[in-house]
Amino acid sequence: MGLRHFLTALTVLPSIVYCQSPLTSSKRGLVYVPSEKYPQDDANWDSPTSDLTWYYNYGSKPSPAFANFPKLQFVPMLWGTGNSSTFLSDVQSQIKAGANITYVLGFNEPDGDSSTGGSDIPAETAAQIWMQQIEPLAKQGVKIGAPACTGAETGRQWTQEFFTACSNCTIDFIPVHWYGDFQGLASHIGEYVGTFNKTIWVTEFADAHVNLQESQTFYNQSSSYLDRTENVTHYSYFGAFRSDVSNVGANSAMLTQDGKLTDIGSWYLGGGETGSVPKSAAYRKTAFIRSSLLVGLTTMWCVL
Ligand SMILES: *[C@@H]1O[C@H](CO)[C@@H](O)[C@H](O)[C@H]1NC(C)=O
Ligand SMILES: *[C@@H]1O[C@H](CO)[C@@H](O)[C@H](O)[C@H]1NC(C)=O
Ligand SMILES: *[C@@H]1O[C@H](CO)[C@@H](O)[C@H](O)[C@H]1NC(C)=O
Ligand SMILES: *[C@@H]1O[C@H](CO)[C@@H](O)[C@H](O)[C@H]1NC(C)=O
Ligand SMILES: *[C@@H]1O[C@H](CO)[C@@H](O)[C@H](O)[C@H]1NC(C)=O
Ligand SMILES: *[C@@H]1O[C@H](CO)[C@@H](O)[C@H](O)[C@H]1NC(C)=O
Repeated sequence: MGLRHFLTALTVLPSIVYCQSPLTSSKRGLVYVPSEKYPQDDANWDSPTSDLTWYYNYGSKPSPAFANFPKLQFVPMLWGTGNSSTFLSDVQSQIKAGANITYVLGFNEPDGDSSTGGSDIPAETAAQIWMQQIEPLAKQGVKIGAPACTGAETGRQWTQEFFTACSNCTIDFIPVHWYGDFQGLASHIGEYVGTFNKTIWVTEFADAHVNLQESQTFYNQSSSYLDRTENVTHYSYFGAFRSDVSNVGANSAMLTQDGKLTDIGSWYLGGGETGSVPKSAAYRKTAFIRSSLLVGLTTMWCVL
């Protein structure tokens, strides 16, 4: 093979090799987003074949839904300044009661403001809270994740400032978030490893607001990549909710508008494809308008 053909083969190869996602992975966890309206959806995450090993819920205490599901290890998170004062005591009392807490996560999107779900905290403030509420856990042998910034450039800057402000902090790994395409995810992870030389957890990721085919291709490529990449030890796909309430587009969701596992949802849990196609709230509205129109037309027909 000439060099040119070899290079072409090299660029073509990944898309052939990575188009199928591996069925199971020990790195996988759940970003748990409970549904008040449909608590029965929780049963999806508790399937006997599920390969999920851990979960987080953006809070410091475990979710009652998983109390009898020891396969899912709880990872507490100190979300933001508003709920930081009891973090240490919350986690220590779980450890005292015999819970296997081996990891905790720092602040959620501190470089983002509340309008996008960020906790909006200056790095210096985060560092002060960290020394009081998180650092003592490191002394107890718990592994600590840095604050998880947004995928924007502000995220890496914030993390840099945090490493400076928190030079005495024990930081074992860095959780990152990504919403975008696969190339972007891979280079984002590469940048973090290159800049900070830490192992990475990808604690939120999806290709937001793309069509179903693109969502699935992204899922397959990224899960396969994350499984192969040694520097990534844990990942949790963003989508443990119904497609009609998804804020990252219906096609990324792991559940349909009726609470059934989508193909992605099932693949993520180590199962086969379900053929259940996720629909958005807009689709529902259109369907509703169509049926009201029909009712209206029928009524008019009757009046006439
Ligand atoms: C994704 O991977 C699954 C197997 O895990 C395969 O059945 C499916 O065809 C793949 N889809 C795409 C779009 O690559
Ligand atoms: C922590 O506080 C923020 C802001 O008040 C809130 O949005 C979030 O839901 C809280 N998290 C928990 C787990 O209580
Ligand atoms: C606690 O969880 C870790 C994985 O996070 C596992 O390696 C370890 O075996 C668990 N310990 C117990 C006592 O279950
Ligand atoms: C880090 O610890 C050293 C030694 O205890 C102390 O002198 C220094 O002020 C600390 N740095 C910060 C940023 O707290
Ligand atoms: C990266 O971290 C490892 C320890 O995890 C260390 O052995 C290595 O020297 C570090 N590399 C650089 C360039 O700092
Ligand atoms: C990243 O992975 C490479 C091997 O693929 C390894 O040499 C390096 O130490 C890892 N870095 C970290 C921070 O884990």
